Amino acid sequence: MQLLDGRKVSKEILHSLQKEVAALEKKHIHPKLTVILVGKDASSVSYISQKQKACLTTGIQWEQFDYETDVTTEILIEKIKDLNADETVHGILVQLPLPKQVYVPDVIRAIEPKKDVDGFTAYNLGKMFLSTEFEYLAPCTPLGVVRILEHYKIAIEGKEVVVVGHSNIVGKPLSVMLLNRNATVTTCHVYTKDLASHTRRADILCVAVGKPGLISAEMVKEGAVVIDIGINKTNEGKLVGDIDFEAVGKKAAYVTPVPGGMGPMTVACLMENTIKAAKRLNFQ
Ligand code: GUN
Repeated sequence: MQLLDGRKVSKEILHSLQKEVAALEKKHIHPKLTVILVGKDASSVSYISQKQKACLTTGIQWEQFDYETDVTTEILIEKIKDLNADETVHGILVQLPLPKQVYVPDVIRAIEPKKDVDGFTAYNLGKMFLSTEFEYLAPCTPLGVVRILEHYKIAIEGKEVVVVGHSNIVGKPLSVMLLNRNATVTTCHVYTKDLASHTRRADILCVAVGKPGLISAEMVKEGAVVIDIGINKTNEGKLVGDIDFEAVGKKAAYVTPVPGGMGPMTVACLMENTIKAAKRLNFQ
């Protein structure tokens, strides 16, 4: 089994983005990412610190706005409107999840699509649906999957791809982006009958559920490519994905580790989107 080293590939991406930021700086454009964080959810704080670190590496400016957990939908929308109007801001990211009194669709809808570096707005998702040509700001985790497959020269076209998980952030957009690249895509989820009968057919198996040990070796085809997008904390505080890494590793040709797989790739793609947005806002 070969490891798909997200840490290494993300470093390469960040290094090349650093050069792009330097080139933009020469043209007096200073790419800037703004992040809205509500509360102090441990996972959100950890994800955000990784994003901030990547900004430091690439030279992208970072500004964070913290809110208490009793914040309202209206307060967040007002802040987003300010950031939409601010010409020094190129990316707006609202860290999810939000507390239950906040209506997430209205918050996302308030983000100017040109600054929607998470690729969560209906506008960007709708464009992404059309073809690769219109994947302008695509969701970062699915984009990370495409980038890591590209890096290791793993072909997508014509492959049997099975995506497990149908969230709006990962499973659904990932299925569409792989379909855009001419894979035969099956999307499985919590209501799928006999999950193993699907996963066993996969040349490329992508799992984004959030359930440790969901995918055992018996559920994986010999020589498959396995992309583990789950991030779970065990009772001992260890980070693990959704696959039985040891056992699946003996059967698969390629596997992404957790940590060090899709997490860093997601962050690198967020940086890629921020620079893309900065260029588009200034040159088009
Ligand atoms: N929460 C978990 N993943 C994500 C992500 O990709 N973007 C945002 N904004 N929040 C998240």
